[in-house]
Amino acid sequence: MQEYLNQGIKGIIKQFPAVENILDDYNIGCAPCSIGSCLLKDIIDIHNLSPGDEEVLMGRIAGVIYPGQEVTIPRMERKAVAGAGQKGYSPPMKKLVDEHVLIKRLVALIPGIIDNLDVESEPGRGVIKDSVDFIRSYADKYHHAKEEDILLKYADENLDIIKTIYEDHENGRAHVRAILKGLADRDEAAVREHLKAYQELLTEHIKKEDEILYPWLDRQLSITQIGELFSEFNRKDEECGDTPEKYEALINRLEPEYKLKEAVK
Ligand SMILES: [Fe+2]
Ligand SMILES: [Fe+2]
Repeated sequence: MQEYLNQGIKGIIKQFPAVENILDDYNIGCAPCSIGSCLLKDIIDIHNLSPGDEEVLMGRIAGVIYPGQEVTIPRMERKAVAGAGQKGYSPPMKKLVDEHVLIKRLVALIPGIIDNLDVESEPGRGVIKDSVDFIRSYADKYHHAKEEDILLKYADENLDIIKTIYEDHENGRAHVRAILKGLADRDEAAVREHLKAYQELLTEHIKKEDEILYPWLDRQLSITQIGELFSEFNRKDEECGDTPEKYEALINRLEPEYKLKEAVK
């Protein structure tokens, strides 16, 4: 079994297609992953399976690879989260999760902005420009930059999960460029299409980070690295001055007008 633990999951699924359905049962969508260089052992770690789930999952996979044979399955090593707080995130990771809250508030406004889309009038164009300003200055320059310039430097950039995060950020930037081009061309359909695509991308992206990336990184980092991260995040915050307050005020201003009734909690 050890040799398969160190093999790429894509290759294993190709050789043993039934493994894909087993992974699906645990909501581990490795087959649709576009890159596919994750090793079988990484999957257990990245998705943080409980020891019980790990045992059952690995037993089922071993049953597919070695039908009818007794197989010894090595247990994955598990690390406790260094400096984890109440909710299970370390302080720097909790900070990033908290920053997602404001980004999710903007993302929640996109359907209302699309419903009221007007690329001709100044107020109509203004709300698109404000949204793009939020995305570029808060979501990207303030938050994604913390991830790219600081957090992800602590990870192996060849891992699928890390490549996916970078790819999502780049795709988000491409949608923003397309929104601005659509606005310049007075092309309402293009603005609508790329706003919607940005909404879908960021919703999934934040979920990946909150549920998979951050908890996984928390388990990789030492208490010293967690401390370093926290102080580097604080330094970045100082550089960014009143960015959080400024963009929270923008969201507070946009919400009464664009928050759809069904989205109000
Ligand atoms: Fe991100
Ligand atoms: Fe993020």
